[in-house]
Formats: sequence, C-alpha cells, structure tokens
Amino acid sequence: MTETAPLRILFATPEVAPPVKTGGLGDVSAALPAALAEAGLEVRVLVPAYPTLLAAFPGRVALAQVERPGAELLPATISCVALQPGLELLLVECPACYERHGGPYQTAAATTGPTTRCASACSPGSPHCWPAATRRSTGARTSCTATTGRRHCRRPICATGTRTARPASRRFTTSRSVGLFPMARIHALDLPVAAMTIEGVEFHGKISFLKAGLQHSDRLTTVSPTYAREICEPEHGFGLDGLLRHRRDRRSGDLVGILNGIDTRQWNPATDRSIAARYGAHSLALKPLNRAALGERLKLALQADTPLLGMISRITRQKGADLVIDAAPELLARGARLVVLGSGDADLEARWRALAAAHPGRVAVQIGFDEALAHLIEAGADLFLMPSRFEPCGLNQMYSPAYGTPPVVRATGGLADTVVDCTPRTLADGSANGFSFGPPTTDALLAAIDRALEAWREPETWRRLQRSGMARDWGWGPAARQYIDLYRSCLRAGR
Ligand code: ADP
Ligand code: GLC
Repeated sequence: MTETAPLRILFATPEVAPPVKTGGLGDVSAALPAALAEAGLEVRVLVPAYPTLLAAFPGRVALAQVERPGAELLPATISCVALQPGLELLLVECPACYERHGGPYQTAAATTGPTTRCASACSPGSPHCWPAATRRSTGARTSCTATTGRRHCRRPICATGTRTARPASRRFTTSRSVGLFPMARIHALDLPVAAMTIEGVEFHGKISFLKAGLQHSDRLTTVSPTYAREICEPEHGFGLDGLLRHRRDRRSGDLVGILNGIDTRQWNPATDRSIAARYGAHSLALKPLNRAALGERLKLALQADTPLLGMISRITRQKGADLVIDAAPELLARGARLVVLGSGDADLEARWRALAAAHPGRVAVQIGFDEALAHLIEAGADLFLMPSRFEPCGLNQMYSPAYGTPPVVRATGGLADTVVDCTPRTLADGSANGFSFGPPTTDALLAAIDRALEAWREPETWRRLQRSGMARDWGWGPAARQYIDLYRSCLRAGR
C-alpha cells in the first residue's frame, strides 16, 4: 500500500450507538469511524448482531460464513450494511450467542468468540476494549485501545430514547470486566496452548484478553494523553502498568493517547431534537426554556436563583457518585437543585433514591438509561457534575460546554485534558470552559462548586464562560487526523 492509497480500517467493538450503547464506547464506535470515513478512509465496524441492531438494519446483506471447527465456538454469518460513503457496518450473526436480552457484557467468554474470530478473519483491525483484543497472526497491523479500569454494572443494551428492562444480572466481577477467564477455557476459545505464556495471553495464571491485545498489537492507543500516562502507574494500571510502561518506552513509542471528540451531529444544541428549545451561543436566552422543561418533567421547584446541577453517569465510585451524595446536604443548604440520571451500584442507587425521597422538589433521581432525557439535562442544567476518580476520556464534560452548561470535574484522565478551569486569566484569554479540582474528596468538590456558583451569580462572567465553551471545536477532526497518522506510521514500521 502506498502512502496515498486509502487506508482500510476495521474496528471490532462490542457497542455501536445508537442501537447498542451502554456508555461512551458506543458513542465513540459510531463517531470515530464516521469521521475517518469522511477523511477518505475505507472503514468497517464489526459488531455482534444483538436484536436491537438486527431490528435497526433489516436490509442487511449476508457476506460470509465463518466456520469454527470443533470446540465450543459456533459458526457465524457476517452481514453488511452501508452507513455512509466509506463506512460499512459488519454484523456478526450468531443467534445462540447474541439473540438475547440484557447487556453486551453479561455472558461468558464464548460469547465474545464469534466476533473475535470474525475480526481475525476480516484481517486488519483496531480492537477497542478487551472483547475484541485477541487476534490470530494474520499479518495485519493492529492497534488496541487500552482501558484498564474496573468496569462494574454495565447497562442493558438499549435503543435510543427507549427504556429497557433491567438485566437479570447487573454486576461484573473485576476480573470479568477486563476480560479475564480461567485457563481451562483455552481450548474452548481455540487459542494455541503455546499462547499460555507470560509473553502470550497468560496473566496471573488466567487468560487475559486485554493483556493479549496490549501484548500483541503493533500500537496501543488510549483515549486521552493524561490517561496514557496514568495507566503506566500502578494506581491506574491495575496490574498491567508494567507491560504498558514497557510498550511506552520502546523506541517507537507504542502507547499513544488520542483525545476523543464528540459527535456534533448528535450533540449540538442548535439542532438537537430531544430538547425543548434549540439554541446557540448567540441565543442563550432560549436555554432557560430547557431548564423549565426539565424542572417540569422531574417536578423540581425551580426559581431564578436556585442553581440546577445535573449529572448523567454510571452510578459508581469511579464516577464519584458517592462524592456528590456526600456533598448533597451542603449543596441543598446553598439552595441548589440536583438532577441525576444513571444506574449502577445498588447501594449508591439506594442512597440516591433516599435523597430524592427526603427532598422532593429539590432532588430528582432517574434510575435507568434514557438518551432523550440525557440531552435535556445537558441543555437544561446550569452546571454539570463529573467528579470521576478516574476517567479514560469522558464525553459528558465535552457535551456540557458545547451546550453552555459548564462542567465541574476532577482533574484526571480526559477530564484534565478537556476542561480548562475558570480563572480570571482563562476567562480573559477565552479558554475557560468549566471548573476542576484535584483531591477526590467532598470538600474539594464543594470548593469547586462554590467557585462555580459564585461565577453563576455574575451574569456577565457566566455568559462569557458559556460562550468560550461553546466556541471550542469539540468535534472529531483533530482525533481523526491523529489516528490516520498513527495508522500510517504503523504501516511504515511494518514494511
Ligand atoms: P463511560 O463510558 O465511562 O460510562 P463517558 O462519559 O465516556 O463514560 O460516556 C457516557 C455516555 O453514556 C454519554 O453519552 C452519556 O450521556 C451516556 N449515559 C450515561 N448514563 C446514561 C443514562 N443513564 N442514560 C442515558 N445516557 C447515559
Ligand atoms: C470508556 C471510558 C470513558 C471514555 C469512553 C469512550 O467507557 O470509561 O472515559 O470516554 O470509553 O472512549
């Protein structure tokens, strides 16, 4: 392939929004391939054919049958849907594995098998997350997106704007969350026994899909520069930091952090069909109509001087949901109203529900997944809260300034790379777009919210802050260019 020949890229991913989304991975798996296709690449996105996807694409065309001799893995059919010029969706149809309800992450290892095998069969790839991380020796150049953090409580697969039933089992063990499986499954997964070494897929006596991807990919990407540094330290590396440091320190600099963007076709207050009143940087006077609509929908007692604080999140300690609950009495004492949309850890959900029950009209809590409500919260809240303990990138802290709703974040991972703390200097130079704090404590969160509320009470300061957040280009352009450079450097290195 010459330098100018179109690059042909395969993304293997367990989610793609809108039909299959439990979080940011679904958004990114839809938007990044689209941005690359717009830049002239030939992109295919390989995804398990869950019922919502099959329903969304009745006109798909069968392309190939991937056979699996022996063991437990089943044959699968790959079918294809053209999404836009240069972009195709490849659906891995394996009814025994994927024709089920519940989330993409709720059954055993074998269910990832068909998609992983098809990724190998389709050749060049960029696996995003562990379910797509193993590969055969195909001669293709690969990159693997690294997210080492523990994943608890994935949400059910859902169609946009549709509430779904709660899944039977909502919790994952730490090991399952990064793709760890007993060694006994090596034959079922059709992996060569020789791969069970420290240089292969073995990780503390088990099979680790994530480690296999990190070990064998030509390049490793993660979704922000700060997180790329953080996962090389024990605190965020979760036992993989040694391997990540090794890859980072190789001469070719194999570990790269590329900051995500946002899909401005979906997340733009000027065109958003899920909100009550559309607006832009020069029609911010319309934004309060969304605030009123949100207040009405959630039965909140709102006045002009009661700041409305929003949060849309997995309700987990990772996302700092406990920090916000602990800060709530102080926030309510300051006259604030709180709206929370999410689901996650049962104990934290229960604490949020109790808070809402104790403060009707002042705290509204919606447990579940609701895409349309998420848009209305971004548009209607005055401030957005995202005090994550760790965050590979995060998307809502970018949706929020794009909607003129400054975020309050903890400066970690992608939050540190996207949110510019509001100070007299950053306000003056037009870079300010939110508020950030350091230690993961309730006091530090409250201090940052207090600074934000002070600014909120000064209309001119606030308007300037809103406008500088809305003026920034949050789109995928810069990231797409960096991925293209990375793919080309991968090809050069392989020659
Ligand atoms: P993560 O992927 O770690 O959960 P991100 O910030 O990258 O976090 O992405 C979360 C995405 O999921 C955003 O698009 C957010 O709006 C969406 N989201 C999270 N919880 C809900 C919910 N309960 N209902 C609707 N959308 C949600
Ligand atoms: C993961 C991360 C999140 C990131 C998303 C998209 O879900 O937790 O921080 O924004 O992937 O890359």
